[in-house]
Amino acid sequence: MSNVLRLAIVDPNDSKREALKTMLLGMDMIWLEAECSRYEFFADVVAQSNPDIGLVAIDEDPEKGLDLVARLGDTSPNCSVLVVSSSSDGSLILRAMRAGAKEFLTEPVRIDDLLAALGRISERRFGHGENRPRGSQVIVVAGAIGGVGTTSLAVNLGCVLAGDEHNSVALVDLDLCLGDADVFLDAIPDYTLVDVAQNVTRLDFTLLKRSLTKHASGLYLLPRPVQLEDISLITPDDLRRVIGLLKATFTHLILDLSKSYGPIDLIGLEMANHILLVTQLDLPCLRNVVRLMMSFGEMEGITDKVKIIVNRAGLESGQITLKKAEETIGKEIFWQLPNDYRTMVDVRNNGVPLIEQAPKAAITQSIITLAEALISDEKIEAPPIAGKKSGLGKLFNLFPNKSGK
Ligand SMILES: Nc1ncnc2c1ncn2[C@@H]1O[C@H](COP(=O)(O)OP(=O)(O)OP(=O)(O)O)[C@@H](O)[C@H]1O
Ligand SMILES: [Mg+2]
Repeated sequence: MSNVLRLAIVDPNDSKREALKTMLLGMDMIWLEAECSRYEFFADVVAQSNPDIGLVAIDEDPEKGLDLVARLGDTSPNCSVLVVSSSSDGSLILRAMRAGAKEFLTEPVRIDDLLAALGRISERRFGHGENRPRGSQVIVVAGAIGGVGTTSLAVNLGCVLAGDEHNSVALVDLDLCLGDADVFLDAIPDYTLVDVAQNVTRLDFTLLKRSLTKHASGLYLLPRPVQLEDISLITPDDLRRVIGLLKATFTHLILDLSKSYGPIDLIGLEMANHILLVTQLDLPCLRNVVRLMMSFGEMEGITDKVKIIVNRAGLESGQITLKKAEETIGKEIFWQLPNDYRTMVDVRNNGVPLIEQAPKAAITQSIITLAEALISDEKIEAPPIAGKKSGLGKLFNLFPNKSGK
């Protein structure tokens, strides 16, 4: 239970209490410890159940509600009190805070506001240390050029992570025009990103999960829209909300970016914990990596999240050495995924993930170890790449024209 915030709620209004409970119950980070319909009993309930958070909805009787908030400060000082009211009157908010409330939310409670309040309480209580409740990790998979292996990595990494019973994992296909994550998973989804984005303010967590397609590996998929004309219905703001909701529901989110690096992709980059930038060791790819890294440098907080992943390592022809690539990019290569065309084509054509189709293959093992490295956020030694490390002397001068003109 160390990964969750335990919460007790009091609201004499049954239907409002139920609505709040529905919102809370879908959140992985929340364990609903107790509920109560009378202000008089709640201090005892809290004293006995000792939750991290006491949620007090004060609309039914604000005076009694605020008295209770003050009493909780005396009887259960370790319980952080969150007050909910339909009034946004400044003096009421002030009284609630003076009585000892840590947060004040106005009804109807928006999920993103609730999440933000819980996040602040969690941070105050647990800080950034090891005891902090587990947050969701957003892993963005982006590519340096079309066909570089972005979707192959996103899907298979998602399936590997979903194989661990401690994780709940969703993959969102942000390649809104041409994304094919559904093909890799042989899935025919009922809903797509456009349905979820358009209803995001009305969705609760149960509905959200139902809108996603669950693959046999345990991975949930939110695919790109079916119709091209629906793409424009998804706004960056909607997407930010969708990701916020998904973060509250899943331990890991994988975002398969398009190669257009448009506004939707940028939201992904902004909200990422890790950005896996997939490249191959050839000239067009590495040039793009350099260009992308320069652009990322102009954006706040992106560069440090980027991890360079070399795909199809061990390919014989047209490859530049790892050392030269690192020098050129100015960043270390975080990971190398071996070349295995036959297996990768089978995986895609059969719509079966690597972990099932070829569990022992070097490429599968490499993705498994990559997943472990991302979770522990430490660099673990990647398995050796089959095939020789190649280097073409004549390509050493990667950017002959890169003199700034
Ligand atoms: N490690 C690998 N070894 C050999 N082939 C690979 C490897 N990874 C991916 N491929 C192959 O490369 C092709 C492109 O892969 P994928 O669709 O994953 O790339 P992408 O970057 O998502 O492409 P797009 O730009 O169209 O979205 C596929 O045929 C896939 O099987
Ligand atoms: Mg793709």
